[in-house]
Amino acid sequence: MGNEDLVNEVLSLKRERNAVILAHNYMDYDIQVVADFIGDSYDLALRAMETKAEVIVFAGVRFMAEQAKALNYDRTVLAPDPGAGCTIADALNADMLRRAREEYPNAPVVLYVNSNADVKALADYIVTSSTAIKVVKKLSSDVVIFGPDSNLADYVAHMTGKRIIKVPPNGKCIVHASYTVDMVREARAKYPGAKVMIHPEAPLNVLRMADFVGSTNQMIEYARDSGYDEFVVGTEIGMLNALRIKVPNKTFHPLTTGPSAKCPFMAMVTLDKVYRSLRDMVHKVEIPKSTADAIREAFERTRKLLEG
Ligand code: 13P
Ligand code: SF4
Repeated sequence: MGNEDLVNEVLSLKRERNAVILAHNYMDYDIQVVADFIGDSYDLALRAMETKAEVIVFAGVRFMAEQAKALNYDRTVLAPDPGAGCTIADALNADMLRRAREEYPNAPVVLYVNSNADVKALADYIVTSSTAIKVVKKLSSDVVIFGPDSNLADYVAHMTGKRIIKVPPNGKCIVHASYTVDMVREARAKYPGAKVMIHPEAPLNVLRMADFVGSTNQMIEYARDSGYDEFVVGTEIGMLNALRIKVPNKTFHPLTTGPSAKCPFMAMVTLDKVYRSLRDMVHKVEIPKSTADAIREAFERTRKLLEG
């Protein structure tokens, strides 16, 4: 089937199944075109809670689809490729977290949304790259257990001045952890008029060189509202699709086009797999009810803290 036919098939199946497609900002352009909502992890989690559709197709990696299922336990959530994992999420297991709790019994556990469901169910608070600093600042404790992304943990420690106990000590994103100071220097030399935006999963010495640090949605807001016209984008290269759709009048350059530019897990989700998931109603995300309840509770506790 040609791409245009595939797009039309997906749009008609969406109506037939009463389905919505939630797509992460990193998705291929043709997936973003058929999506009902495009966003960062936090925005998509909120959208998942609001939707009245019977079926949610989550065009993103597995932890995101699991999060949508936890927040909408009675709905059918489909993951176009259930094998699409995440190196950060896979760095932490439940035993590691239990050991950290034993060692620091009074420290709250703040987990990045990039965690697998069984581990996330053990969190006191669930944060995304757009909420981590605000949440940790608001906690009364000066010692906080935080995981599984070690670079985000460093950034949170730097921005809040709190003692951050990392679980595990070295969870990393295969894309952002590969960014270097030299990449930023080269990009600045090549695009001297551009502002440099970098995702907080990058190392702290790289973040210190950025004009703006934020989640993928925060990058869109910065590009749209800042008054500048040209940007270097320090995040997964699919982000350029979202920026070109949402901020069409400005210019964007990737920080790198090298081997680490594309997340291999995000790349596993294709328009063809979105189509097949809707056609055959596969692959249904299943997590135990008790796990979903615990995730929802931690997510709501975090929302209340943010709003309070
Ligand atoms: P955002 O929440 O900023 O979209 O990040 C998700 C992610 O997986 C980054 O690699
Ligand atoms: Fe995980 Fe990094 Fe891929 Fe995002 S870009 S899904 S953090 S491996």
